Amino acid sequence: MSGADANKELYNELRKLTPDELLRDEIPRFDRASPRERAQRVSLVRAAGVVFSESGSKAQREIVRAWLRDLLNDHDEKIRRYAMTALPKLGATAEDERALLTLMKSSSIEREKKFLAETLEKIGGVATLEQLPALAPRTEQKVKAAIARTEQPGRIRLDHTLAQVSGVRIHLRGRDGLEMIVRSEVEEAILRSGKFRIVSCTKGLVVLAPTAPFSLGEIYALRCFGTLAFLIGRTDMAALPAIITAPDTRRIFDAFTEGTVRYRIEFVGKGHQRAAVQHIAEKAYARCPAILNDPRQALWMIEVRTDTVELRPRISPDPRFAYRQQDVPAASHPPLAACMVRLAGPMNDEVVWDPFCGSGVELVERAIAGGVRALHGTDLSAEALDAARRNLTAAGLDKVPAHFACTDFRAYGGLRRGEASLVISNPPMGRRVPIPNMRGLFQDLLQKSTEVLRPGGRLIFPNPLKMDAPPRGLVLVSRQPVDMGGFECKLELYRRG
Ligand SMILES: C[S@@+](CC[C@H](N)C(=O)[O-])C[C@H]1O[C@@H](n2cnc3c(N)ncnc32)[C@H](O)[C@@H]1O
Repeated sequence: MSGADANKELYNELRKLTPDELLRDEIPRFDRASPRERAQRVSLVRAAGVVFSESGSKAQREIVRAWLRDLLNDHDEKIRRYAMTALPKLGATAEDERALLTLMKSSSIEREKKFLAETLEKIGGVATLEQLPALAPRTEQKVKAAIARTEQPGRIRLDHTLAQVSGVRIHLRGRDGLEMIVRSEVEEAILRSGKFRIVSCTKGLVVLAPTAPFSLGEIYALRCFGTLAFLIGRTDMAALPAIITAPDTRRIFDAFTEGTVRYRIEFVGKGHQRAAVQHIAEKAYARCPAILNDPRQALWMIEVRTDTVELRPRISPDPRFAYRQQDVPAASHPPLAACMVRLAGPMNDEVVWDPFCGSGVELVERAIAGGVRALHGTDLSAEALDAARRNLTAAGLDKVPAHFACTDFRAYGGLRRGEASLVISNPPMGRRVPIPNMRGLFQDLLQKSTEVLRPGGRLIFPNPLKMDAPPRGLVLVSRQPVDMGGFECKLELYRRG
């Protein structure tokens, strides 16, 4: 067996041991061993990093970190290298950083210095910046980003204004099929302010041009779009560093960032592309060291799409949907729920029923729009109903009378004939939990809605099936395709005649 294979085999064995076994048997055995034997058992150092990071207690991790720090003084370069690679896994501290810096200063081995730089990229802080003035730009950028992230993570400012708006393009993206609804909300709410004009509306995308200074908060007052981003260039790999650091891009960064600008690059639909990201980040840093690439908890996302490069503020949770305290596995996409509310249109004194209410996103969205007399939610899952109650409270809608019942929707007796004015729902589609008779379920939904709706009342839901004519008394108003996150449905709106 080759040395590499033996190392791997030993690693696989040690990796299966518990933290207690490693601490009791393997680490003392390693410490007692001769230099030759230690070199043969160096895989223990790697295994310890993994095992203690996954399942060690805090106290055990401290013991192991101290052990790894000691190993940084080992006379064997390989053991030192393994120790420095294992340290970041255990959440290295300032003490570990000091030990690594001491070694960096004394080492004359190029390979070791390279590994030390990589480790300091992960755990380095102010001491690294101060003590190693000749850091490689790549390491320097990562260390600066880590310091900013931990000491002053910053945030996206919704209340600040972008003053210079000439040439700015805002991309409001959403699920395919919903763009006309997004557009209508923009027209109604924002155009009234006179600050924007609509440039175009295509599949899943509404493009706006601001005509006056604006804040992100003004756009986040809209509920129907999915994500917001600024168009900052046309896709050209060689030009990306210049696009990221261009004066127009920096104006957007500066206007809306509190703290250090940290961004992440994503090649949409193309996976990680680590080498390309590294290359672009280094070039961008050389152009503008105030803007830092940081894959972790970045405030901004540079989205490289097929044709466009877009700059998206990362605001998490989305302030519009922060009421979502609790989720269910098939929870609705909130902007879709908001679109359904919009498509159903307003009605005063609304009595709403969601027969499959889950965590209540549709009910909350309808209640936020106002004019609701009562909400009714049914679901087979008691946990989902608890989530719906919590979300309603978190949305500040405690005062809206809400009735929840853990029942099959067909058996719900909480609504009299003709009492409801809106039935709004995202029904089960049988994707996660198989539904024995899907068609029957949707026919029953139409039938039950016909019974509880008052004349003029509406039923709106995404329908995965092509149905026969609706029951007597229910008229199909509109039927439009909508992407449900990878599969298509028809968003159907009916009116009770
Ligand atoms: C797609 S989820 C609804 C998600 C919900 N709109 C939300 O935002 O969380 C469908 C829900 O229907 C419920 N359900 C399935 N069959 C039902 C039935 N016959 N009667 C009532 N609820 C049912 C499931 O428990 C599930 O919570």
